[in-house]
Amino acid sequence: MNERVVLRFPLLRRLEHWVMVIAFVTLACTGLPQKYPEAGISLWFFRLIGGIEVSRQIHHVAAVVLILVTLVHLGSVGYDLFVLGKRPSIWFSRRDLSNALKALLYNLGLRRERPKQGWFTFEEKLEYWALIWGTLVMIVTGFFLWNPILASSIFPGDWIPAAKIAHGSEAVLAVLAVLVWHTYHVHLKHFNKSIFTGRLTEEELREEHPLYLERGPEPRRVPEMQRQKRRLWFGVGYAVLAVLWLAGTYWFVTAEATARAAPPPIPELAHEVVYQTPVPTPVPTPAMAAAGGQTPTWQEVGPWLRAQCGYCHAGRHGFGGLDVTRREGVLQGGVHGPSVIPGRPGASPLWFWPQREDHPLHPDQDGLVLLWQWIAHGAP
Ligand code: HEC
Repeated sequence: MNERVVLRFPLLRRLEHWVMVIAFVTLACTGLPQKYPEAGISLWFFRLIGGIEVSRQIHHVAAVVLILVTLVHLGSVGYDLFVLGKRPSIWFSRRDLSNALKALLYNLGLRRERPKQGWFTFEEKLEYWALIWGTLVMIVTGFFLWNPILASSIFPGDWIPAAKIAHGSEAVLAVLAVLVWHTYHVHLKHFNKSIFTGRLTEEELREEHPLYLERGPEPRRVPEMQRQKRRLWFGVGYAVLAVLWLAGTYWFVTAEATARAAPPPIPELAHEVVYQTPVPTPVPTPAMAAAGGQTPTWQEVGPWLRAQCGYCHAGRHGFGGLDVTRREGVLQGGVHGPSVIPGRPGASPLWFWPQREDHPLHPDQDGLVLLWQWIAHGAP
């Protein structure tokens, strides 16, 4: 080593890192609010960018960028390994295990010196492989979420919710890893700028990668003649991979419209939906059928209604404009129209509305039987 600086990251690596940073931050910012949609900050974010729908679309674009940069990375790594014959220096060796142990002891104050590490430290290797693994998990589970119907026609349906949990959990894990592991090791411990400048000084090398300084750069192993040939083979292989990858990506994003198109918004007036959806128990229960003989009249129903519902639905100013203290008031109904359709209890709000979950009072079964009978007999 006679130069004072060495090239650590060629331009392509630095560009990959930038693209990765942008894609990662975008994915996290648009994805986490979807995982925690009720959090205040999520709502604030959705309002800021114009809704959850916009968030999803940006998330999808960033996902495609991530898939594509993965292809680029595979190509450049493949070139280094296959054409240039470089050693996979980012791969683990036995030494990393002992280095990890030594680092642990050092951090606990049980060892005086930090372990000597090579071109990539075990911390860097762990992070790199966590990124690779995480990206794989996100791409696969993301496919499930993007194309749920297609995915469930190939795999068991349970895999969709499982993929959703894995996708969200891996996201949290990845963000925490970046905030803790990455921030500490490359920003706090010592601000390592090599991924931006591409260079490391000799001093930094001595500090972080002393073993590399001792051993020096690895010799070129593939002679130029052979490299020509390998380049050709690599070009063909990579072209095939790239075509498959791009076709797969296209299929990924277009196979199914389900996740791309948002479901229609729930109408402002949820009540209207309720009128159309099947009512809770539109058929008489056995108790109602058993009580079939007698015909209740307003004489019985009126007092019951007044007692049960009068507290909130009395007079012109009753909730929902409903007045249950007079038979006419009940027939006339409230803001949503008649509450009784004589002869059709199942379709009468007076019978089903108070059974709704969001209605503050749920009448007892006997009362419901009474109401059902009364309406069924024409609300006399
Ligand atoms: C504690 C208060 C309370 C009681 C008691 C109560 N309700 Fe209600 N009810 C409400 C409120 C609040 C609404 C919703 C009003 C709105 O949507 O504007 C409502 C709405 C309704 C509606 C829909 C009216 C419309 O057209 O919008 C019906 C029908 C109804 N109640 C029936 C009943 C019946 C029958 C009982 C007695 C078994 C009853 N309620 C008891 C509070 C009450």
